[in-house]
Amino acid sequence: MESDLAPELDAFYRVLARRRDVRAEFTGEPIDDDVLMRVLGAAHTAPSVGMSQPWDFVLVSDTDTRTQFREHVLSEREVFESQLDGERGHTFRKIKIEGILESSLGVVVTYDPERGSPAVLGRHAIADAGLYSVCLAIQNLWLAATAENLGVGWVSFYREEFLANLVGLPEGVRPVAWLCIGPVRKLQQVPDLERHGWRSRKPLTEALHWERYGAR
Ligand SMILES: Cc1cc2nc3c(=O)[nH]c(=O)nc-3n(C[C@H](O)[C@H](O)[C@H](O)COP(=O)(O)O)c2cc1C
Repeated sequence: MESDLAPELDAFYRVLARRRDVRAEFTGEPIDDDVLMRVLGAAHTAPSVGMSQPWDFVLVSDTDTRTQFREHVLSEREVFESQLDGERGHTFRKIKIEGILESSLGVVVTYDPERGSPAVLGRHAIADAGLYSVCLAIQNLWLAATAENLGVGWVSFYREEFLANLVGLPEGVRPVAWLCIGPVRKLQQVPDLERHGWRSRKPLTEALHWERYGAR
């Protein structure tokens, strides 16, 4: 469809709309080094509370490490599945929740609460502001990867302690995400959870409140 927006604005919104969480569409082809550095550079330009830049990126290509992580994720999948009943369990069983081995690379994004401390400007009242910063880095990475025609899949079916030990995180540094990243055959137009009947996106109007919560 023709857009009335200036080309660069149109391109930006198209990237937002094309971004998907990818599980099944990875090709496994290598990621070009320059592209990978641009994508990680995009993550590293994210805003952060007190300019603390509390993130790090552990790049995992080793098959043995990835296999160990996948086995852990599959056991956590079973934990979740055991909590579901009836239709939810039936629907969940059809949903793929990771592409750890099929993707080209795993990126463990971490959070170091000590970075820039003790006086992190803007975090004195909200400890979570550090974590928010890491999530913004992840979103930058996700969008840059989409613009580069790569797919990204966020995996959170893990216990922090397991992943911290697996990739040797120092005491106190937390894993925030395992991101599967790599070239893809295609990006789905509809999110997997929606396609499989788990949950659908709500319209923006349902998330909008005027002046006070609940005032529509
Ligand atoms: C914090 C976070 C954790 C997620 N964990 C998983 C996960 O473990 N496995 C998975 O398949 N998708 C995971 N997702 C992806 C979401 O399911 C996905 O973003 C959502 O269904 C919307 O689809 P879309 O990203 O394709 O628009 C996660 C997303 C976020 C933001």
